[in-house]
Amino acid sequence: TGALRGVVALDGPSGTGKTTVARKLAAELGAGYLDTGAMYRVVTLAVLDAGVDPHDADAVVALARSVRLDVSTDPASPGVRLDGTDVGEAIRTPRVDAAVSAVSAVSDLRDLLVQRQRALIEETARDGGGVVVDGRDIGTVVAPDAPLKVFLTASPEVRAARRGAQDTAAGREADQATVLASVQRRDRLDSGRAASPLRPAEDAVEFDTSELSIDQVLAALTELAGTRGLLD
Ligand code: DC
Repeated sequence: TGALRGVVALDGPSGTGKTTVARKLAAELGAGYLDTGAMYRVVTLAVLDAGVDPHDADAVVALARSVRLDVSTDPASPGVRLDGTDVGEAIRTPRVDAAVSAVSAVSDLRDLLVQRQRALIEETARDGGGVVVDGRDIGTVVAPDAPLKVFLTASPEVRAARRGAQDTAAGREADQATVLASVQRRDRLDSGRAASPLRPAEDAVEFDTSELSIDQVLAALTELAGTRGLLD
């Protein structure tokens, strides 16, 4: 396989394997990788650390403007910094999980982050390079002209089981019923919000990954990119 050209929009809820697939696809195809969820998570962490109410839209946006947020677009070393500090682990805690939906529902914050995401995509895809963008609204809002849009799904039970396994691997205790409830709560909030609700773009290819391994999803997406003429 050759190198990827252009933008691949990879959307869907968590627990579909989206982030792992996006990173591996980018690495295998010599492309950049942008984790937009990490950007909402960093702002959420900043909000919690500052004692700001996640539902206070004006305070959330003011805080987001006042902090420095750096995101790596290298799939070999993905990472995020908040005011210069590596927060790659701190953004993936139950505390951030519980507040990130409220923060990401703030429409002015979305405008701010979407602008930055577009700039990062442009920078990464400059000179004909490729970039795999991982999120919820990439195909619908951030990069509506992306030549390949994929929407990954999986049953809530499968997604909760995957999330639980991640927690266990990271040394955190995971109670399946609690994880499933948290997954379903976030689905409801993310799909039901007024600003850019989670939904597939009309021209997105949908994949149910419930019964598929990461490698099977990767193979299918690589083939799709080839069919679309996006591989050199
Ligand atoms: O993909 P993730 O679980 O790291 O995303 C964290 C949260 O951020 C998720 O609950 C929805 C929100 N999000 C969003 O609203 N738009 C994006 N493009 C990416 C994530």
